[in-house]
Amino acid sequence: MQINSLLNRIELYKIFPKNAVGAELGVQYGHNAQFLYKLTEPKKLYLVDPWELPPEGTGKLIFNCVKASFQHCPEVEVIRAYDWDWIETIPDEHLDWVYLDSSHLYHNTKREVTAILPKIKRGGILAGHDFCTNPWWKTGVMRPILDAVQAGQIRITTLTEEAFPSYYTEVL
Ligand SMILES: C[S@@+](CC[C@H](N)C(=O)[O-])C[C@H]1O[C@@H](n2cnc3c(N)ncnc32)[C@H](O)[C@@H]1O
Repeated sequence: MQINSLLNRIELYKIFPKNAVGAELGVQYGHNAQFLYKLTEPKKLYLVDPWELPPEGTGKLIFNCVKASFQHCPEVEVIRAYDWDWIETIPDEHLDWVYLDSSHLYHNTKREVTAILPKIKRGGILAGHDFCTNPWWKTGVMRPILDAVQAGQIRITTLTEEAFPSYYTEVL
């Protein structure tokens, strides 16, 4: 099966399942979360980030701002935690889709991919940002995703054409 190509991640979000249960892991200021929310029209959306930015107090401030920006959206739950800790609390096959955009470091991404896959329904979506190498995270995003492809756990169906591409994979 050929891999599709889309202009950017905004176009990608339009093919995410609607009225579904999704999660963004790595939220930062919540800019991307707004697009995910508007374009996927989720039944439930989890936004997970530890918000541990220095200096002291900054993380809490940003967490509160993100929470405030979704205060009128009852489907959205903003969770201040490391994603691997939150992942342990949810049942298997609970999620229809995930957008992973956290530290990008190899050991962290490997840990996240390993932990999240059983939590996504078969036929569901594991997507994420920055499917490219970079002096900062090196092969930290591409390798764990391609490891999972090679292990037959996921199949890449779509990539985006940006300098910092997103990937979209089906959970097998
Ligand atoms: C690149 S930013 C996310 C940007 C956001 N997705 C966007 O496009 O607007 C990376 C975020 O990942 C968060 N992060 C790092 N490690 C994490 C982890 N283990 N679990 C969840 N979030 C994490 C950082 O706190 C940071 O806010």
